[in-house]
Amino acid sequence: MINKISIIGAGRVGESCAQMLAAQKLSKHITLIDLDDKYAKGVALDIQETSPIYEFDSVLKGSSDMSAIKGSGIVIITAGLPRKPGMDRSDVLAANIAIIDSVMDGVIEHAPDSFVIMVTNPVDVLTYYSLKKSKWPRNRIIGQAGVLDSMRMSSFIAMETHYSVNDIQALVLGGHGDTMVPLPRFTTIGGIPITELLSTDAIDKIIQRTRDGGAEILNLKQKSSAYDAPGAAVAAMVESIVHSKNRLLPCISMLEGEYNQRDIAIGVPVVLGSDGIEEIVELKLSQAEQKLFDYSANSIRELTNEIKNIKVT
Ligand code: 2OP
Repeated sequence: MINKISIIGAGRVGESCAQMLAAQKLSKHITLIDLDDKYAKGVALDIQETSPIYEFDSVLKGSSDMSAIKGSGIVIITAGLPRKPGMDRSDVLAANIAIIDSVMDGVIEHAPDSFVIMVTNPVDVLTYYSLKKSKWPRNRIIGQAGVLDSMRMSSFIAMETHYSVNDIQALVLGGHGDTMVPLPRFTTIGGIPITELLSTDAIDKIIQRTRDGGAEILNLKQKSSAYDAPGAAVAAMVESIVHSKNRLLPCISMLEGEYNQRDIAIGVPVVLGSDGIEEIVELKLSQAEQKLFDYSANSIRELTNEIKNIKVT
């Protein structure tokens, strides 16, 4: 049973995650770690004070000391530099890899049996890096991207049509960036593929808006990238693990031959349960879909190869 979850990085995504985990009563103990000790404590206390409204008994703590994550069943990593308007997620690789390298040292030391949910960008590459560094099995380090991208696609479909979002199930695979692969054939409204219900033009617009989803928020907010939707996406993943729900969710996983790819961490449908990634679900992609997936995988691979040129100390 998981009764402690730690979040590394008490920035906006970390804070939103913590609030969702508490409000959804997903863990008795929630610990926020940040370089700024007082800030982490402040965020924890602020969320703690929402407990009478959300009726949770979770105990929130903030600290700058990584050893405070001891006993965590899940560690969520949100620490790192967010991108600024005009930047690509890959532009923060060099800065964030150094941060994730030291964060993972702490996770390996203090929470050696935990599941890790990676959120920091570029999330595909950092999931790969953390798996290689820790040598943990692939079921235990899971990247968050596809849940968020699919949530965005579902929202855009609901916004563009008169259908209830309750009945919309979108599926987005591939890398978390411009090459992500929204799959209309596997995106349904009440079980009916959107290809049966919407025009090609409408679907193309929704796909493009989904690909640009993060940038759209960043351009509007300017001072911050998205955090509410990423927080909710992480909470959905946590819930599936904590409650052994075995939800089928698109997550970043290391591939070992699935989808004709290996030695790369990229978004694919997985079953998330009490053992983390319990299964990678291989869909029969059409030639055109596989081509898009391979193109996305190649761009992630190129970025992953850049790790070799970065000196991490
Ligand atoms: C997003 O897509 C920041 O990558 C994050 O909003």
